[in-house]
Amino acid sequence: MCGIVAYIGHREACPIILKGLHRLEYRGYDSAGVALLNNGELSVYKKKGKVAELEKFIAEKDTHANIGMGHTRWATHGEPNDANAHPHYSTSERIAIIHNGIIENYAALKEHLQQQGHVFHSDTDTEVFVNLIEEIQKKNQCSLEQAVRLALHEVVGAYAIVVLSKDNPGQLIAARKGSPLVVGIGENEFFLASDATPIIEYTSDVVYVNDYELVIIKDGEMDLRSREDVKQTPYIQRLELELDRIEKGGYEHFMLKEIFEQPRSILDSMRGRLELEAGHLNMGGVRAYERKFVNADRILIVACGTSWHAGLVAEYLFEDLARVPVEVEYASEFRYRNPIITERDIVIAISQSGETADTLAALELAKSRGATIFGVCNVVGSSIARATDAGAYTHAGPEIGVASTKAFTAQVTVLTLLAMIVGHKRGALTDTRLRELMVELETIPAKVEKALELNTEIMQIAEIFKDSTNFLYLGRGYNFPVALEGALKLKEISYIHAEGYPAAEMKHGPIALIDENMPVVVIATKDSSYEKVVSNIQEVKARKGRIIAVVTEGDTVIPAMAEFTIEVPATSEVLMPLVSVVPLQLLSYHIAVLRGCNVDQPRNLAKSVTVE
Ligand code: F6R
Repeated sequence: MCGIVAYIGHREACPIILKGLHRLEYRGYDSAGVALLNNGELSVYKKKGKVAELEKFIAEKDTHANIGMGHTRWATHGEPNDANAHPHYSTSERIAIIHNGIIENYAALKEHLQQQGHVFHSDTDTEVFVNLIEEIQKKNQCSLEQAVRLALHEVVGAYAIVVLSKDNPGQLIAARKGSPLVVGIGENEFFLASDATPIIEYTSDVVYVNDYELVIIKDGEMDLRSREDVKQTPYIQRLELELDRIEKGGYEHFMLKEIFEQPRSILDSMRGRLELEAGHLNMGGVRAYERKFVNADRILIVACGTSWHAGLVAEYLFEDLARVPVEVEYASEFRYRNPIITERDIVIAISQSGETADTLAALELAKSRGATIFGVCNVVGSSIARATDAGAYTHAGPEIGVASTKAFTAQVTVLTLLAMIVGHKRGALTDTRLRELMVELETIPAKVEKALELNTEIMQIAEIFKDSTNFLYLGRGYNFPVALEGALKLKEISYIHAEGYPAAEMKHGPIALIDENMPVVVIATKDSSYEKVVSNIQEVKARKGRIIAVVTEGDTVIPAMAEFTIEVPATSEVLMPLVSVVPLQLLSYHIAVLRGCNVDQPRNLAKSVTVE
């Protein structure tokens, strides 16, 4: 949700910033801008639309500078237009800021600043922030650093900011609370960004800035301080990100690349954890909390969107394999209820980005009430990963397409391993059953590979249904969350209305929608509810609904009833979501492409939702 990038050093800043903005565009793409500081001149260029629009706009301008910053926006306050794009100047145009987050008390601050003579040109909370810094500096006759520090005490909300001032050439100040910020440390040069992707080709040494910390870079040195001005020791980590993993690698879209990466990403999420030959499962993060898991009265899962769907799959897994009661919560609801949480609860927070504001707040609430927090995150060093007591990274690699695909299957894989470990430790899963599941889990990457061979067939089905205006997705048991996920994928990238339902619930309402124009995608693989789903298919057929069924290879019953069948390899019921979701990802992808939609950057969405 908004991407920020900044550079200070010996190179040309603008090309580094623009390249970084392209990498961060998944975080927001309503508008973009840069600020460059050269010879005491502070220039700001910004434009509504994608980073490419900004590039065109500045092509003829003098962008020479060794210090600068850029922003790609996902609008919160104020519509996407040139004026609301970042960077924002202060009234005197001596200070500029970029900001990712939300300032909640901006209205009161703005009123006060207007009374002091500050003039506003945008509807944003960010312009208030930069004027607040200017006002504080004027009033206290203090340094820019001190003014930023004091301003941070006055704003309520979330931020990652970078500040430049023409009165402080050679200095760059950044701060964070609630929104991610990474510093890249090179040879006499520094990079700042919302994530490490704009940094990786220049340096592997990074520092993840913590909440309430300020970064002051000047004279080739970085100074990390708390908001209370206490010097902090930066913890320098080595990045293990490869450049080719954040590029398209010949695919037309990141989403397609990421769908096709799943055999590898699933394998990566099992690597070192599933040791078939040795006959055991390892998960470093669980070890220290094994007793907690064994004695837990309940597991609470908090997440949003696709990660919430992975949580629903985990509910089936933990109940089946570990016999632990599970509750799956929308993080956004959970955080504002008065939930009953005890010290014997384990809360699992699932998040691809590790930055989702609601999930972070939900886990903080659970933590404050004594629960043990376990994180399942993809982004290493992310806020959620750092706020948990323990956790397991999904190791899916960077997911750039806004619609989550490989992150979902990696989450489900990690949660499956976790449920197997906990189930075995609790005595709910016998050695034999554990072994059977391990053997089967190891075959999943190959089965996903097989499911991907359906790509052309699915493209043809997409061609037939691309103009439909509604879709229904039905599934039962483990395939119910898959139905929800299939519907979510379709609506977010193709803008077609779609609903996911437990198949049997259909007759309690949605059945009224079914007619000869309604495509109904039924996930009907061979499992314990197969016969029931066959009956549900009959019910749809009787009302002339157009059935697209995802079935197990070799099924002869459903193909005789459905208009289209998509055959996926057989696997254990417990592991089926990892395979059955793949054709649904491909279906939504092809429909969106055929409708001319921007698959990787669907309208109104952002990859990382750092505001509530
Ligand atoms: C859907 C999608 C979103 C995210 C949700 C949570 O394709 O990507 O629904 O799943 O915003 O994000 P994370 O997992 O980063 O917490």
